[in-house]
Amino acid sequence: MSNLTLILSALLFLLLPCFWKALMHLIWRPYAIAKAFRKQGVRGPPYKFWFGSLGEMKRITNEAMNLTLDKKSHDITTRILPYYRKWTEEYGDVFLFWHGAQPKICISDPELVKQVLANKFGFYGKIDPPSGVTALLGKGLVLVRGSEWVRHRSAVSPAFTMDKLKILTKTMAECAKSTLQLWQDYADDEREIEVVQQFRELAADVIAHAAFGSSFIEGKQVFQDQNELLKMIVQRNLSIEIPGSEYIPSRRNLYMWKLDRRLRKKLISIIQARLDSKERSGYGNDLLGIMLEASEKQEGQKLSMDDIIDECKTFFFAGQETTSLFLTWTIYLLSTNNEWQEKLREEVLRECGMKIPNADMLSKLKLVTMVLLEAIRLYSPFIVLRRKADKDMNLGNINIPKGTNIDMPIMMSHRKKEIWGADAGEFNPLRFENGTVKAAAHPTALLSFSVGPRACIGQNFAMLEAKTVLAMILQRFSFSLSSKYIHAPMFLITVNPQYGLPVILKPLHV
Ligand code: HEM
Repeated sequence: MSNLTLILSALLFLLLPCFWKALMHLIWRPYAIAKAFRKQGVRGPPYKFWFGSLGEMKRITNEAMNLTLDKKSHDITTRILPYYRKWTEEYGDVFLFWHGAQPKICISDPELVKQVLANKFGFYGKIDPPSGVTALLGKGLVLVRGSEWVRHRSAVSPAFTMDKLKILTKTMAECAKSTLQLWQDYADDEREIEVVQQFRELAADVIAHAAFGSSFIEGKQVFQDQNELLKMIVQRNLSIEIPGSEYIPSRRNLYMWKLDRRLRKKLISIIQARLDSKERSGYGNDLLGIMLEASEKQEGQKLSMDDIIDECKTFFFAGQETTSLFLTWTIYLLSTNNEWQEKLREEVLRECGMKIPNADMLSKLKLVTMVLLEAIRLYSPFIVLRRKADKDMNLGNINIPKGTNIDMPIMMSHRKKEIWGADAGEFNPLRFENGTVKAAAHPTALLSFSVGPRACIGQNFAMLEAKTVLAMILQRFSFSLSSKYIHAPMFLITVNPQYGLPVILKPLHV
């Protein structure tokens, strides 16, 4: 036997187990899992070698992007959750599909969703995020698991108590006031204004002040870099990553690493300045200061510099993008439902007059709260909640094998007629007249902020900010959609209007 043959045989011998493992993972396992689910009555699109359902997901998504909707239609799942919608129609409420060779079960019934999200033992953990998402959010509260999550959550929670948030109302109102002063020029000439970017900058300004007591200008680089990273992550969201590809110095990775370094440097300088100021003036009363103080009290469990950087990244992302879209879609809904715009204005003028609203005034704005809840039901900024079964589980009457991902498309749940009534697809704020628990046939049917222990820590912050800004807009302007508006909600990690939201403002007090 020649040396070459010997080497080749040795190589083959070494590679055989890998080859076998790959074969099991890419062929046998999907086949066995699909069969086990089929026996339980759970069907779905067939598994395709290596790609799973990704090819079909891409094709359905591309087709959906060509659809535009009637300006008043809230039937937006055709555009932003097209494959969930198609497969629900084809295979029923619970179905199986494949992200590569990774099995995913989709559920939208609120009782099953609650069983997953509020599982007492934490058996449905967060999924492993794509590498780019870690760069975006760090190992902050949104992504950490187990005891690490407990440590982070107890350091961050004190910053979000209602007392602390009430103090922040003043900051929120000041940021809104300077934005709305700019709007006055547009209103005076009845010129069109593109509100998406306006709200993005306003929300960035609010979170920068609330979290760091610093201005938007100082945090600008951080927001820009985070938004840039977000775009790149979305681009590769629908492709399968070759394991290890995140470490290859490709042009895209080099650029992403550069953005991450810049982000980190900026955040370190903000945090270090705060640590240095402790002796002089204490840590301060903003989110960062409160977090640093709470962390210091956790004996042996203090957050490290890296932990704090990651929490700051999380604040920026969670606080900016979601809240600005919340406001954007609320303005869209009030522009297309003028009678509600009028009702809210009356309420705001009755409770606040032309004063800058404070927390007490805001607490009396019942109709405003109802409209905001209806807006977040129909246009939830996050559209899918994701978990993974950490062990074999029984969910309802389905056996879920360990390692299965569970997708919970919020917008599908929010449009279920059997839960929300025959008008589930309509804008009807009255459904929230008696609060969220009684708004639907299931007490935790509203999922926009999630439910259970991992529910959004910033939901009161977001509601307070949205109320403040909306009340101040209603005091000053009436608004309607520009004729240029095209109703095309688009999924970009969050739900964005693809062509923006151009609005015509009219001043109420000349
Ligand atoms: C309209 C605005 C917002 C929406 C719709 C929203 C939605 C959500 C949702 C759905 C989750 C749970 C994700 C999951 O279970 O996988 C979440 C978690 C979280 N949100 Fe928000 N959020 C908003 C605003 C904010 C704000 C303003 C902040 C902070 C300033 C914030 C900070 C967080 C954090 C830290 C978590 C992780 C909580 C944990 O895992 O313990 N969010 N948010």
